[in-house]
Amino acid sequence: MDEHIAEAIGRPDLIRVADGFVCLRFETMKVVSALAAVRHLLDTGAVRRGDTLLDSSSGIYAYALALACHRYGMRCHIVGSTTVDRTLRTQLAVLGAHVEQMPPSDDLKLDQKRRVARVHEILREHPEYFWMRQYHDDIHYLGYEAIADRVCEETGADGGLTLVGGVGSGASTGALARYCRARRPDVRLVGVQPFGSVTFGSEHVADPEIIIAGIGSSIPFANVSHKAYDTVHWLSFDTALAGSVDLLRRHALFAGLSTGAGYAAARWEHAHAPGRTTVFVAADTGHRYVDTVFARHAEAAPLESLAPRTVTSPDELALPWARMEWSGAAAPAAAGTESARASLQRT
Ligand SMILES: Cc1ncc(COP(=O)(O)O)c(C=O)c1O
Repeated sequence: MDEHIAEAIGRPDLIRVADGFVCLRFETMKVVSALAAVRHLLDTGAVRRGDTLLDSSSGIYAYALALACHRYGMRCHIVGSTTVDRTLRTQLAVLGAHVEQMPPSDDLKLDQKRRVARVHEILREHPEYFWMRQYHDDIHYLGYEAIADRVCEETGADGGLTLVGGVGSGASTGALARYCRARRPDVRLVGVQPFGSVTFGSEHVADPEIIIAGIGSSIPFANVSHKAYDTVHWLSFDTALAGSVDLLRRHALFAGLSTGAGYAAARWEHAHAPGRTTVFVAADTGHRYVDTVFARHAEAAPLESLAPRTVTSPDELALPWARMEWSGAAAPAAAGTESARASLQRT
């Protein structure tokens, strides 16, 4: 029996949606990561019960950290993106988290820059607060180890394993690949990105629709292990929307937009390597996306009519869907370690 709801929410489902094609479905993905990170900080004496944990979030990490703080008796201060909706804001308030939200903006890059600046300002006012740095501190990898073990156990050892997931902080896909590779050598990692993100060098391609919440970034993140990725897909908002709608129609799985993007990429990869088991990550449920995605289901292009254009360099990237063999390359200059180190500075 679980001792706290966070443990139940953190445990994902593994659903075989087709032969050799599996969904790793979370209700809210980062709960398992935040729980393990906070437990690690308490165990190592980096924080004590009652301390305040601070971070910035575009949505699901805010909820995850608030649950972990509730579980372990910590205070929680969140600098939330403009994408944090009323349901989440209300839930966080009742849970006892202090939430500051950025002003309404269609420009998610500006929103991210404002959040980073505000975190630094709060740290100057409250040096005793502990900044979780979900985008940079690899304590956020720890919670995924048990999940990687389960994925490896339940998918069997035959034919190779391909993991597909959206890359935001990079912790979930990076950790799942790292821990699965420790158990079996035949793991391929496919990262999924929106256009306009610096992480894998698509900052020069603007998507006229919004960036996909939770994945991609306008600043470098140290938690992205670029060398762990074999392949990267970039999907437009419309392509991700087609994926989300198809996933609900075809497999009755109601999940968010990053999942729709991951599912579309995973379907393509699986069709081209059917002997391998392909596992795609569903990070959240579809509730937050009812108005922006699911209510527009009539506009969704049939997924089988869409395919990525394979490119050999980020210079060739173009809407609506591109794919590139990343082949374990290092970070592009704008997302590299020097830039990441600069954004890591506490003041
Ligand atoms: C909806 C959603 N999908 C995917 C991700 C990517 O996860 P990660 O930060 O582990 O790369 C996030 C991260 O915020 C998210 O909110």
